[in-house]
Amino acid sequence: MKAHLAVLPGDGIGPEVVAEALACLQAVAARHGHDFRFDEAPVGACAMDATGAPLPPATLALAKRADAILFGAIGAPKYSDPSLMVRPELAILQLRRELGLYANLRPATCFRAVLDASPLRPELLEGVDILVIRELTGGIYFGEKTRTETSASDLCVYTVPEVERIVRLGGRLARGRRGKLTSVDKANVLETSRLWRSVVSRVAAAEFADVALDHMYIDAATMHLLRRPADFDVVITENMFGDILTDEASMLPGSLGLCPSASLGDGTRGLYEPIHGSAPDIAGRGIANPYATILSAALLLRHSLGLEREAQAIEAAVVGALESGVRTADLRPTGTAATTREAGAAVLARL
Ligand code: IPM
Ligand code: MG
Repeated sequence: MKAHLAVLPGDGIGPEVVAEALACLQAVAARHGHDFRFDEAPVGACAMDATGAPLPPATLALAKRADAILFGAIGAPKYSDPSLMVRPELAILQLRRELGLYANLRPATCFRAVLDASPLRPELLEGVDILVIRELTGGIYFGEKTRTETSASDLCVYTVPEVERIVRLGGRLARGRRGKLTSVDKANVLETSRLWRSVVSRVAAAEFADVALDHMYIDAATMHLLRRPADFDVVITENMFGDILTDEASMLPGSLGLCPSASLGDGTRGLYEPIHGSAPDIAGRGIANPYATILSAALLLRHSLGLEREAQAIEAAVVGALESGVRTADLRPTGTAATTREAGAAVLARL
């Protein structure tokens, strides 16, 4: 098939890990006879340096034209002052919003070969395979903000349709997995959560009677995620809770460097990025873990291009690389750590 892919490597380790994922996509295209065209554009701190804006209009236009977007990471120490009005992070928020990417799929899958990389005991991690679906374009992230000398506020708003589309996606995906759906909220305190819970219950009862639904408060969920992670299948939650819960969930596989993500909207166009950041402390040293970005490329093949066989080939190649002991520094290698290139090459060799 023919596909046009926007490549936005961004800052820090972004370009290093994206290069490895691109090589994998090229290999898949060659092997399976696809014609992928790649167009690269600046985003984040590097775009601010070049144009003043974290998401230049040309970059947004490219993202809108493309069939899918492969994204690296953004952020740089020189722009890390949280009081700055324009920050690199704005670019990813604008992209999500402008492209209508309201559902963020964040799988946390434990790979048997690296169970010891997790801070949790291996017996807790056996068979852990969680898919968190984080609502991505609503809630407190995008509500009205105010600021005076002495006070500040962030408004959190959810509408019924915004919740309905997340439950439906969660229900459909749960059906294809272990048939369990956990909705996470704070309905004992927040009105938005009470709305969330009632919509989830109604839609699940009417349309997903075959899916086992339970509700959990966010505070309890953070605890159960560590105490009995194997019990979770698909988790749906609002934007801010999902942001926090997925960083926590990344410690089940053992590293942010193993966690890919897909941000999807109504059509097939999606944005694919590792959930880790730009890691300026290790940028330019060639030691970042590229697996999360490579696994994000697999999600791109699956969700935007419908190439399931090719997606599985990449995922199997990553598992193979891990099983043969190719570990970057974040995975607590027993011997010497693999470099970014070596980890990428180990995946490529298996494609
Ligand atoms: C993430 C990040 C972003 C978020 C930041 C960079 C704005 O933490 O993708 O999880 O909070 O959504
Ligand atoms: Mg986050």
